[in-house]
Amino acid sequence: MNKHPAFQANSPRTVDEITQGRRLRRMRKADWSRRLVQENQLTVNDLIWPIFLCEGTNRREDINAMPGVQRFSVDMAVREAERAAKLGIPAIATFANIDPDLRDDAGSGILDADNLINRATRAIKNAVPEIGMITDVALDPFTSHGHDGILRDGIIVNDETVEQITKGAVLQAAAGADIIAPSDMMDGRIGAIRDALDQNGFQDVAIMAYATKFASAFYGPYREAIGTSGRLKGDKKTYYIDPANTDEAVREAEQDLAEGADSLMVKPGLPYLDIIRRLKDTFAMPTFAYQVSGEYTMIKAAGANGWIDEERVMMETLLAFKRAGCDGILTYFAPIVAGRLKAGS
Ligand code: PBG
Repeated sequence: MNKHPAFQANSPRTVDEITQGRRLRRMRKADWSRRLVQENQLTVNDLIWPIFLCEGTNRREDINAMPGVQRFSVDMAVREAERAAKLGIPAIATFANIDPDLRDDAGSGILDADNLINRATRAIKNAVPEIGMITDVALDPFTSHGHDGILRDGIIVNDETVEQITKGAVLQAAAGADIIAPSDMMDGRIGAIRDALDQNGFQDVAIMAYATKFASAFYGPYREAIGTSGRLKGDKKTYYIDPANTDEAVREAEQDLAEGADSLMVKPGLPYLDIIRRLKDTFAMPTFAYQVSGEYTMIKAAGANGWIDEERVMMETLLAFKRAGCDGILTYFAPIVAGRLKAGS
């Protein structure tokens, strides 16, 4: 029964008249045709696996806020690296939960050639030389206050922090890191690290700049993973980028490239696909995204509740990074995805 007889609800034109005979569904009609026109693909070569390290031997510790992710003692990390290499994952990135007694105001633990990160790098490179080792260089795992910089009178001091992480970066390269990834967003860090690496004979060690790291709430679960959640006072807004900004992200990336970065990273990932596309179009450089802890956890939590199909959402998010222009993605899903891709599903 039509309650509004005044409305004409049917178009006077046929669909073919409207589309001029153009029907975009034609190429979607079958699996073979969808495969033929598929523009982007995710392969194992796109994956970088971030892993967490802890002290001890034969240890695997669960992380409450990141179901399915564990911290590994160095010997276990070596086994995991072997597993990753067998799966064809090109590189892993390490993050350390440092003993609280070894943390101080200045993050001096980064200057220890035998700190947890460097011991893991040596052990992994020794056992699995074919896997790429990416080490995050930042003070936050080593500071008592959880900030990425040296804190003085409530201010994160830029230049001293750069000196500190530059020394740390050289020690990481000496331990065998293939790529140094500075994640602290201090000004001048890329150039200072490049100079120091070159001076010490590490011309072949590359720099992946966390060029555009946003002051994001998506890092929450990671803070539990490296034991900084209870420590962090205040926020990181004086050094990470405001999530509202995109031109500023372009300027940051431009600066890092001018200082010698070999590749760019955008972090977090999925909420920042526009930044990935802009950087790829603007600089045509290798561009990576970090699908961070909060992104991972949201998918796991909704999946565990049966609210989404976890596997399909996982694959769809990773494909979205490719579509946005990424050359690779740091993702906690890496071994699961690699296994799935290998099985051909
Ligand atoms: C800081 C750092 C962070 C992450 C990696 N290195 C963010 C932070 O603590 O502010 C986040 C990674 C994640 O959330 O998965 N150097």
